[in-house]
Amino acid sequence: MPDELPSLDYRFATQPSLPGKGLAPEDIADCELSTAALEGLRRRIQAGEVGFTRLAYDQTTPRSIASFARDARFQNFLLIGIGGSSLGAQALLAALKPWYHNWVAGRRGARFFVLDNVDADLVERTLSMLKPRDTLVNVVSKSGTTAETAANFMIVRRWLIRSLGNKFARHVVATTDPEKGELRALAREEGFATFPVPSDVGGRFSVLTAVGLLPAHFMGVSIRQLLSGARAMAELGLSQALPGNLPLLSALILYRFRTRGRSTQVFMPYASNLQAFADWYRQLWAESLGKKVDRSGRVVNAGQALLSSIGTIDQHSQVQLLREGPDDKIVFFLDVKRPGRQVRIPRDLQKYPSSAYLGGRTLTELMRAERRATEIALASDERPSMSISIPRVDAFSIGALIMFFELQTAFAGEMLGINAYDQPGVEEGKLNTFALMGRPGYDERRTALARYE
Ligand code: PA5
Repeated sequence: MPDELPSLDYRFATQPSLPGKGLAPEDIADCELSTAALEGLRRRIQAGEVGFTRLAYDQTTPRSIASFARDARFQNFLLIGIGGSSLGAQALLAALKPWYHNWVAGRRGARFFVLDNVDADLVERTLSMLKPRDTLVNVVSKSGTTAETAANFMIVRRWLIRSLGNKFARHVVATTDPEKGELRALAREEGFATFPVPSDVGGRFSVLTAVGLLPAHFMGVSIRQLLSGARAMAELGLSQALPGNLPLLSALILYRFRTRGRSTQVFMPYASNLQAFADWYRQLWAESLGKKVDRSGRVVNAGQALLSSIGTIDQHSQVQLLREGPDDKIVFFLDVKRPGRQVRIPRDLQKYPSSAYLGGRTLTELMRAERRATEIALASDERPSMSISIPRVDAFSIGALIMFFELQTAFAGEMLGINAYDQPGVEEGKLNTFALMGRPGYDERRTALARYE
């Protein structure tokens, strides 16, 4: 049976399920806006401006990763990076490996550790768990200038040198811009192995480059399956019109609701192992679409906040807000149709009505009923939602979902008329950090910042 692509159910975003606030058929039909978004993205891809869809077809990177990994056998894989340089790898590991992966690692892949934050406890405790001689350090920074990554790498580099002396460079692999930046220069000087982040792929779109694929391979995740799912979704998303083009359709639905005042999207997978995936999507959506000006320079303050939630856990927390709080949200559920395992609830405790009715049913049935109950509860109050379903959480489906959300974000950027691939707001914060930390060349900025002290 061929692998199955995700499907989209948007009945609770449309009429007649939501008679007053749902979208009408003409709102989600093929229209000038959707055609322009599809053509706009295709044009940018052809012009070499946007490269993330090409990654699904890349065979060179998986080959170089496999060949590098054959000679690099380490018990521990320590990733140093932040934002788009670490969230993707964390999402892959959490989704595709059991939560106790680090306890059973060995035959099933290296143990995985991440230093993203410059949190002294995190850094110290992580290093105290590891031995330099058993550890491969992957420093990931496209720009090669991010303060958090530079600081953490300097600490780890010294930790390696103290124990391994001049052999330390064999324990470092740098993933960075193919030509530019100080990390590339340092890698050349110290002789680190390197992998490139293509210049037409931004940090938050880079999970299918070596940024995500190298850690995935070391963790024992099938890169081939990931890319095969991504490819199937890229083919759908770049060739079809509505309604078959699901990333485009979901972007249009979110766009329509955004222009009707729904300033927050709540992404709610019903799967505990997709929490980190939700964090990855939150960055993609927020950093790509949150823009002050459109492509013509007009101030638009575009974007939509993304709250991440996990079903059923957040039914006992955020759902109260979603149902009765400000009516400014759209919920995007994610459903896993056939999880790998079926766990049946025993037919015990029959004299207790609050337990007895559950006996003999599976956890998947309960999960599904809970999601349906929440969708209906929201709809009965005219609160819109839609739902994406995957057959199971495996490498093919995760690859397809990655491409789905990247395309959806790119299409939404086209609809909003903004540049979804830059991040001037983030860069500004980085420059202020340089100034506050006394980096030479930033004196003028430091003086300007003094007025906020
Ligand atoms: O998506 C982005 O561009 C950012 O989130 C970056 O990934 C993040 O700031 C880290 O940047 P770099 O990879 O240059 O260290």
